[in-house]
Amino acid sequence: MICLHTRYSRHEIKHMYQIKQFAVIGNPIEQSRSPELHHAFAKKLNIALRYEKILSEIPLFKATVFDFFKHGGKGMNVTVPFKEDAFLLCDVLTQRAKVAKAVNTLWSKDGKIYGDNTDGQGLVDAIHALNWSLKDVKILILGAGGATRGVVLPLAHAGATEIVIANRTYARAAQLVEDLQDFVTPTSIKACDLAHLSGKFDLVINATSASLSGDALILPDALQFSHAYEMAYGKPSTFLAQAEQRGIPYSDGFGMLVGQAIVSFEIWNGCKPNLADFLNLK
Ligand code: ATR
Repeated sequence: MICLHTRYSRHEIKHMYQIKQFAVIGNPIEQSRSPELHHAFAKKLNIALRYEKILSEIPLFKATVFDFFKHGGKGMNVTVPFKEDAFLLCDVLTQRAKVAKAVNTLWSKDGKIYGDNTDGQGLVDAIHALNWSLKDVKILILGAGGATRGVVLPLAHAGATEIVIANRTYARAAQLVEDLQDFVTPTSIKACDLAHLSGKFDLVINATSASLSGDALILPDALQFSHAYEMAYGKPSTFLAQAEQRGIPYSDGFGMLVGQAIVSFEIWNGCKPNLADFLNLK
């Protein structure tokens, strides 16, 4: 309880009672699980906050973000299709956001907008929560779009020795490898054609949008792997069905969703919820 006499001005008291405001912005936004996750973290850690969904349109995005922070908003998550627009409006970016060229976490300090990308660290934390190692492993990532770009650096920093990016359109994988090469040392990074997959990997990550669009993704028998991670969740995945047939450990992307939310929460609130405590929200 706050004492109302002498020590605090009226303005200070009003400030103390103000609940911290957060939001996720996107289009569409109805499906977002972020408010539920952040409220669950806050409840567990005894923090008072309000986290809302904001539906925006492309021409209004920037003004909506500026308005949110101007009115005291503490932090904002950004989802499809605004992650690149968010990257462009930031005054200050973390290294992983610069490499990802996309921002999913915004906050404001001293009149400047800061941006980070927590997707990759969220994936790393989710994989560690499964007790799968990323140290000295060989990883194959399927897909060379924004989802892949966002996770390569944190996977390299987690200790992977080799990362191979395989894509249906080979040139996109080759371009991504060229863009990322200088940042991932000493991890080696290579491009490959999705149609010519072979070799042996500790972990295969599906970062294509195939499951989201309901397309089958058939992996050749010549490709051997011992763990499978699908970035999407809540949709049937031919990729995970093949992992199940092979009898290897596999996971969908719900842990990554929780993981990226936890990293954002920690940036904003200075304390970190335990990922494993929230996997039952699926
Ligand atoms: P995101 O930001 O989610 O990564 P994106 O940039 O559109 O979305 O990239 C989608 C990725 O999924 C691409 O690598 C795409 O391959 P192409 O570059 O060849 O288009 C890949 N993808 C989508 N559908 C696919 C399918 N049916 N089979 C294989 N790859 C697919």
